[in-house]
Amino acid sequence: MADKKKEMEKLNEEMIACSKCALRKGCNQVVPGEGSADARIVFIGEGPGAKEDQLGRPFVGAAGKFLDEMLEIINLKREDVYIANTVKCRPPQNRDPLDEEKEACWPWLEKQIDLIKPDLIVTLGKHSLEKFLPGQKISEVHGKALRRDFPGLGKQVFFALYHPAAALYNGSMREILIKDFKRIPKIFELIDKEKDSKIKENNHSQGRLLK
Ligand code: URA
Repeated sequence: MADKKKEMEKLNEEMIACSKCALRKGCNQVVPGEGSADARIVFIGEGPGAKEDQLGRPFVGAAGKFLDEMLEIINLKREDVYIANTVKCRPPQNRDPLDEEKEACWPWLEKQIDLIKPDLIVTLGKHSLEKFLPGQKISEVHGKALRRDFPGLGKQVFFALYHPAAALYNGSMREILIKDFKRIPKIFELIDKEKDSKIKENNHSQGRLLK
C-alpha cells in the first residue's frame, strides 16, 4: 500500500530528527529500520553496531549476514520483512542500551509496529525479548511462538530467537538458531489456519501457540 510506505518514510524522517536521549550525541546517525511496510514479519534486534552506524541500515555487519543467510533458508528476502532495533542509535562501544534509552526510543518502535501490523514479531536476543516478554528466559522460550496482549499493540504473536551475533563464534548456537528459524514458515501456516477458521485467540489467550 503506497500510503503505508509514505507513512513509513515520514516516520523515518521523524526518527532521523530525534535527539530524545543521549545516544544521539555519541553516534554517527540514526538507524530507523528497513524493509517492507507491508511485512508479515518484523525482526527486532538490540541496537545498531559500528557497521550499522556507519551505513544507517540495521543488521548489515557480520550478524546481519547471518540473518540474511537464515532468511534465505526460509525463502525470504530482506525486502519481504522488516528489520528494526529496540534503540535506533548505536550505544557507545556497543554497550547494552540503558533502560532510559530503551524507554525514550520505545515510541518509535511502537509506531513502526503499529504501522506495519505484522502477523509475527521475532525478538532477536535477550534485550528485545525482555521488552516484549518481560521475565522470560531466552533459554526457555527460544523457538517458541507465544501470544501476548501487549499494551498499546493488542494481541500479538511473538517468536523468540537468540541473537545472531551470539552464534557467530559458537557452532552449537548457530545450529539452534537455524533450527528455530526454520520453524517460522510453520508458524505462518498456523496463523493462517487460525485466521481461516476464525478461531480467535480468546480461546488461547496468553498461551503457547506452538510447541
Ligand atoms: N545487532 C543488533 O542488535 N542490531 C543491529 O542492527 C546490528 C547488530
